[in-house]
Parts: sequence; structure tokens; C-alpha cells
Amino acid sequence: MYRDHTCGELNAAHIGNEVKLSGWVQKVRDKGFLCWVDLRDRYGITQLIFDADRSDATIVETAKNLGRESVISISGTVLKRDAANPKMATGEIEILVSKLEVLNPSKTPPFTIEDESDGGDDLRAKYRYLDIRRRPVRNNLIFRHRVSMEVRNYLSKAGFIDVETPYLIKSTPEGARDFVVPSRMNEGQFYALPQSPQTFKQLLMVGGMDRYFQIVKCFRDEDLRADRQPEFTQIDCEMAFVEQEDILSTFEGLTRHLLKEIKGVEIDKFPRMPYEEAMKRYGNDKPDIRFGMEFGELNEVAQHKDFNVFNTAELVVGIAVPGGNAYTRKEIDKLIDWVRRPQVGAKGMVYVRCNEDGSFKSSVDKFYDGEDLQKWAEVTGAKAGDLICVLSGDANSTRAQLSALRMELAEQLGLRNPDEFAPLWVVDFPLLEQDEETGHWHAMHHPFTAPKPEEMDLLESNPGAVHANAYDLVLNGNEIGGGSIRIHDRGVQERMFKLLGFTEEEAKAQFGFLMDAFQYGAPPHGGIAFGLDRLVTILGGQESIRDFIAFPKNNAGRDVMIDAPASLSEDQLDELNLRINLQN
Ligand code: AMO
Repeated sequence: MYRDHTCGELNAAHIGNEVKLSGWVQKVRDKGFLCWVDLRDRYGITQLIFDADRSDATIVETAKNLGRESVISISGTVLKRDAANPKMATGEIEILVSKLEVLNPSKTPPFTIEDESDGGDDLRAKYRYLDIRRRPVRNNLIFRHRVSMEVRNYLSKAGFIDVETPYLIKSTPEGARDFVVPSRMNEGQFYALPQSPQTFKQLLMVGGMDRYFQIVKCFRDEDLRADRQPEFTQIDCEMAFVEQEDILSTFEGLTRHLLKEIKGVEIDKFPRMPYEEAMKRYGNDKPDIRFGMEFGELNEVAQHKDFNVFNTAELVVGIAVPGGNAYTRKEIDKLIDWVRRPQVGAKGMVYVRCNEDGSFKSSVDKFYDGEDLQKWAEVTGAKAGDLICVLSGDANSTRAQLSALRMELAEQLGLRNPDEFAPLWVVDFPLLEQDEETGHWHAMHHPFTAPKPEEMDLLESNPGAVHANAYDLVLNGNEIGGGSIRIHDRGVQERMFKLLGFTEEEAKAQFGFLMDAFQYGAPPHGGIAFGLDRLVTILGGQESIRDFIAFPKNNAGRDVMIDAPASLSEDQLDELNLRINLQN
């Protein structure tokens, strides 16, 4: 037997007991003939004491020479500590060791395994198994487990059945590139790893499963960011015989349950906002509504003077920064530089100081008088002491730029409180979006999303005007889930593929199986998928999903621990019929 208790368990109630513990050596403090060792496992840290007066001298010698991270097993007596440490669960006791066995010595670890480590990101990623021994990382993984167990229990109780769908499939268009897997048995042919189980979950509805869920890996070959990994996990769900309202209320219920159980936060009803309103008010389809700084459109009150920059712009739009008049000229210049960075892309920024006495001072005083600026203040909701920041240009890019500025300012002003939770349903997404260069139509969500029935007639004549019963769940400015009511009629699905530029043959070759299925009694259905990594990260009050993934990839899509991706041997390439192709 290696242990009868864990390192997080013993307290004053155990004083006098004989116990056995196993774990890792966190720290050794050598005080001559006394020696203390902090012993760590998943559950906590217990202080061991080795005393030549009270036990075998050779044990004390061995203890003094224990290397950090060695794995040991000990037996001893629980004693009351002279000076209790109230910060530790085991702080009232220590173990006087009578027996010590070194189970496996450790090389000196490349970084310290403590809450604050001295290892940089790359080093910790290379030795991720050591990083996982650190409490913050371990706690994140345990936190993720709690969230996913809550999800499973909640959905199972609500009648959802967990069904596994295949990973070796054919491409499903979710907007990213596929990862592909060569087939040895089918020369020259490839599987694609699923970007999501979208078509399979729909087929499960045709199969009569009615309520499906799966906590499932999805694979997307796209550029990586703090909230994106090439393989990530979805809570994927689908329901039959439902309308949008049924889905929103079911998954609002799940999210409310998680907020309550995991964070102790009770939120009554989640607000809803049409996509177009979100774009107008926040310049973003995933607005963070924990704070204001809503957009004020200024075209009417800014295009009547000789300021050509505004007169030629499709959109002139501003936000009021609370207390922003306190910024120095230098600080404002910094903001202007910030919006002009290539990542944001604004050409410049006009600003208006709202003085305490009700007067204004702007960077465009040459063109606008106090009366004009008063109107700008009304439109943007600026009060005395605020700063109005105004951008202009074509509507889409200007909204995106001002939205980036709004988020940056909120960050600077500390308005993004991680302990506050503001969920929001964004609804009524457009069905399609048009590529500005090619003029081609793309599905905004995916090609299986149903047009709103009342707008179906416009599908061919005015595709851009058609909306979908598609929705995103936004939490604190992050898209944590998205879904839609699906097409379940072969004819409509055919029209959709045609609009998206598929020939009849292409549509049949790629999605014939789905369209065939629609001919055998497909029920009306719809669903949603949450990004589990994102959800857990936000609930955990953090920013990077990597912190909640046991073995994440870096920004170049590499796993630096196992060193993947890697090349294959010539034999493997031959077997997969890849070598000839590569050489060509
Ligand atoms: P969607 O593409 O919106 O919908 O994805 C659902 C959710 O998955 C998360 N997500 C990601 N998380 C981490 N890394 C990524 N690369 C990544 N990509 C997406 C987001 C997102 O909201 N089949 C549809 C769902 C449906 O219609 O039911 C789908 O996959 O949080």
C-alpha cells in the first residue's frame, strides 16, 4: 500500500494517528539534525518532519538529500505543529516520519513547480507534465472537469442522449480549412477530420434520436489566437420538433445552471439583440454589455460643414469615454496611434473634450462650433468630463475599428470585470454574406441553416436581405455558442447549395447523403454548439483557452512537448501512397 491518506487531508482531528502518504518532494529545509520536507500531491501539501532524536538517523540523512520532485512514500505519526499555518488546509499538523522510501528520484526540474513559476511559456509547454503539477494549472483542469460534468448531468436529465459521431469523415464546410487524413486502403483518397459533427447530428434527428448531445473534439485549420485552437471541444447539441424559442430556452437553462452551480451567480432572463442592432450599437456581433460606451452615429450632425473627411465617409460614429477628459494630450495621441496600428486600421481619430463647465474642445474646432459638438455629445451620451472619440470611413471597417477601440478603452478603464457575467443572445443573423471581391455568397453560419420562412421568397431575388433563425450566445464579449434552425426539406437545401455556387453534381457528390435523408421523413430540427474551452475559460475568469486545455498547441499549431507535427518515414509515405505525390 502506497498511502492511506492524501497530502491535502490531514488536520487536528488526526493528531496521534499513524499514516502513510505518497507524493512529490516540493521543498527540503535542512536544519542540521532536523529536516522538513513539503510533500505534494493533487490534493495539497503536507509538512513532514525528520528528527534524528525521535527516529532513525539514516532517514534524516536520506531526507536531507532528497531532490525536488522525487517521488517518495512515508509512514509516520501526525503531530500538532508548534506554529500552525492557517493558510494551508493541513497547516495545523506535521508528520514525524519513521519510514521513508524513495520510489523514484527526479532530475532537477527545468523550472520551479510552485504557484508562481520561474519557467517561461515555451519551457513550461515543453514539460507540460511538470506544469500540470503546479496548482494553478491543475486547478484549471479540475475546474474544466466540474463544468463538463455539470453539462453532462444537466443535459442527460433533460433527456439528451450522448451519441458519438465519427472523426474520419468527409469535409463539412464550417468556414475553416479541413485537416485531412490519407487513407491507406483507398489510394489517393482522404478523410477529413470534422470541423463539427453538424451533418451527423442532423442525421441523428432523421434517425429519430430527438435530443442529442456530445462533448466532442472538432478540428479546424485556421489562424490561431488566444480563443482558438486547431483542435477544440464543443458541447454539441441538436433537438427535433423544435422552434428557435425551444432551443434558446433549453440552452439558456443550461447556461443559467452553470453560472449558478459553478460561479454562484443568478441571472434571470438573458437579453436578446438582433444582429443588426448589435452591429449598430456596438460595431460587433458579440458585444460585451458589461459596460456602456455605445456607438452614436453622427452622420446627421457632422456632415453639414466643410470637413471633407466626414463628408465623404459612409459612416461617422463615436463613443463617449467616461472620465476621458482627464486624458492628457499625450495619452490621447497614444490612443490615436493605437487605432492607426495596422491591426486596427483606422486612418485617424477625431476627439472632443467635454469640459466640466459644459464647453467643448475638439481636434476639429476649425470646422465645428459648440452647438455642433453639443449635438455630438447628445448622440453619444457624453457627459461633462468625458471624451468623445470619433472614427469615420466605410461602415463595416469603421464599426470594427471603433469596436476594437471600445474594448481597448474598457480594458484600460478596468470595465471588464471577470467576476461579472453578462450573457446575451444575438439573434436574427443574416443568412448569407457576400464576398466583396468575388461577389460570391457565403453562408454566414453554415449551409444547413434555414432561411426565415417569411423571407424564403427573397432567396433568389435578394439573398442579402434574407435572415435566418440563427443565434449566438455571447458571454462577456465572447462568442461561447452558436446554432440555428436547420433546413429539413430537400428542395430548400438544393436552392441553398445553388445560391452558394455549388453545381447540382457538386452538391450531390458532397452532400447527397444528407439530401437523400431529407426525403425519408426528416423532422423539423435545430441545435447549437458551445465552445467548451471558451466557456470554461470565461467562467474561470481568464483569457486564454490554452490555460484550460491539458495539452494545448502553440500559436504555430505545434505541440512542442511531443514535437508534432513531424515528418513521416519513407516507408509510411509509401504505404500511404503519398511519396510520389509529394515529389511531384
Ligand atoms: P460554430 O462554428 O459557431 O458552430 O462553433 C461553435 C462554437 O465553438 C467555438 N469555437 C472554437 N473554440 C476554440 N477554438 C476554435 N478554433 C473554435 N471555433 C469555434 C465557439 C463557437 O461559438 N456546427 C455549428 C453549431 C450548430 O449549428 O449547432 C458550429 O460548429 O465558441
